[in-house]
Amino acid sequence: MAAETRPEIRVERATDAQRFLASDKLVWFDAPGTDPLDLQLRGVPEDQRFAAEAVGADVDPATYAGIYGVRPMQLSVPDGAHAGRTVPVAGLTWVGVHPDHRRQGLLTAMLRHHFEQTRREGVHLSALHASEPAIYGRHGYGLASLELDIEVGRGATFTAPHLEDDVAAITTRLATITDEGISERRRRIDLDLLATNVGTIVGDEEFYAELGHVTANETRDSEPPRMLIAVRDGRDVGYAVFKRTHKWPNSRPAAEVEVRQLSGTPAARLALLRRLVDLDLAGTIKLHGFAPGDPLMSWVEGPRGLGDVHPFDSLWVRLVELPRSLAARGYEADCDVVVEVADEAAPWNAGRWRIRVKDGTGEATTTDDDADLSLPVSALGAAYLGGTNLAEMHRGGVVSEHRPGSVRELWRAFRTDIGPYAARAF
Ligand SMILES: CC(C)(COP(=O)(O)OP(=O)(O)OC[C@H]1O[C@@H](n2cnc3c(N)ncnc32)[C@H](O)[C@@H]1OP(=O)(O)O)[C@@H](O)C(=O)NCCC(=O)NCCS
Repeated sequence: MAAETRPEIRVERATDAQRFLASDKLVWFDAPGTDPLDLQLRGVPEDQRFAAEAVGADVDPATYAGIYGVRPMQLSVPDGAHAGRTVPVAGLTWVGVHPDHRRQGLLTAMLRHHFEQTRREGVHLSALHASEPAIYGRHGYGLASLELDIEVGRGATFTAPHLEDDVAAITTRLATITDEGISERRRRIDLDLLATNVGTIVGDEEFYAELGHVTANETRDSEPPRMLIAVRDGRDVGYAVFKRTHKWPNSRPAAEVEVRQLSGTPAARLALLRRLVDLDLAGTIKLHGFAPGDPLMSWVEGPRGLGDVHPFDSLWVRLVELPRSLAARGYEADCDVVVEVADEAAPWNAGRWRIRVKDGTGEATTTDDDADLSLPVSALGAAYLGGTNLAEMHRGGVVSEHRPGSVRELWRAFRTDIGPYAARAF
C-alpha cells in the first residue's frame, strides 16, 4: 500500500509497451486483449506514451505507477468570421494511476510534465474528455463544450422546411466500420467539418484506423458497428456509426439502436437521422454526442420533442501557452482588458496580461497595469471555443471583476454565434 510520505516522482517516456498496456487495463478494469500489442496501442504514438515512477516505492513490476498518452489531433476553433479554423491540439488520453499509488501526487506530476512537454513541442493547447468532472479543473482545464445523450422513438419526425432541397440531394448507404477504406472516408468527412463546426476534433490516420478496428470481444454477442454514409453529388458529406441490439418484449420487435457518432453537414445529419429512426425492428434510438445547440433541437421543437435527454461534459480545454493559444483563434468583437490569470500547474501563464482584440485578431502581452478582472486559467479554456459564458462565470463567482463591464467586454470578443459542437471521444 501507499507509503505515508509522498514519494519522489519521476515522469519520462514509457519505453515498455507491455507495461504501459497492463497499467491501462488495470486502471480501467478491462479484459485482457487478444490483439497483438502494437494493435492495442495504436493511435497513441510510441513517443507520446509517458509513465510516472514513484522512486523507492514498492511498485508492481508488471505495471507503471502512473501513465498517460497523447494523441496528436486537430481542433476546430473560432475563426472570427462565424466558422472554424484548425489548430493542433494535444489530445490527452490513457491517464491512469495504479490503485496502490493514488492520491500521492502522480497525476499532478504527470500533468505538469505534459504541459512542459507539449510546450516544448510547440503545441499550445491540450484537450481531453474527463472520466470524472472533479479531476481536471484544478489543473487548468475548462469545460469548453457540452454534449447530450438523447433518446428518440422509432418514426420520430423532424421538420426543417428550408433544408428539404438539400436533403433530397443526399443518398445514404449502409456499410460496416471494418469495410475497406471506410476509416479514411470517415476521416475525410470529419476533416471537412473542421472548417464549419467549431469544437470538432480529428485524430491522425492511425487513430481512425483504430476506430475502424473491432475486437473479438466486441462482436462476441452482437453485430459489428454499422455505418450509414451520406453522399451528395458523389461526395461524402456525413456518416453515422451505430449498433443494433435485439429486444423482443412481449414478442414485439423493439431493438435498441445506439448511435455512437453522427457527423456531417446539417442536411446530411437530417438525412441520416431520418434513416436511423426508420430502421426495421427498432424501438428506441439512442443518440450520443449532440451539442445543446444542435439543429436537431429546432427540428423537434425543443427538448420535450425528444425522449430522455442527459447532459454531460464534452471537451475540456487547457491553454498550455496562453499568448500563443489566444493568438491562434479568431474573435467576433474587439476588446482591450487587463486580466490577472492564476495558473499553478503552468506557472509561465500566471500573471497579468493585456488581452487586445482588433479586427478579429487577438494578442496577449504581459503588463504591470492594474487588472480589470481576475480569473483562473481554466475559465479561459472554458470560453476558448466560444461556448462557455464568462459573464455567467462572473455572476457565479468564478471570475472577479475590478473594472465594471470588463468581463462582458472580454466575453463579447470570445463568444460565437453558434456554440461548439460536441467533440468525439478519444
Ligand atoms: C484520476 C486519477 C488519475 C488521479 O490520480 P492521482 O495520482 O490519485 O491524483 P493526484 O494525487 O495527483 O491528485 C491531485 C488532486 O486531485 C484530486 N483528485 C484526484 N482524483 C480525483 C477524483 N477522481 N475526484 C476528485 N478529486 C480527485 C486529489 O484529491 C488531489 O487533490 P489535492 O491536491 O487537494 O490533494 C486516478 O485516481 C485514476 O487513475 N483513476 C482511474 C482512471 C481515471 O479516472 N483516469 C482519468 C481519465 S480521464
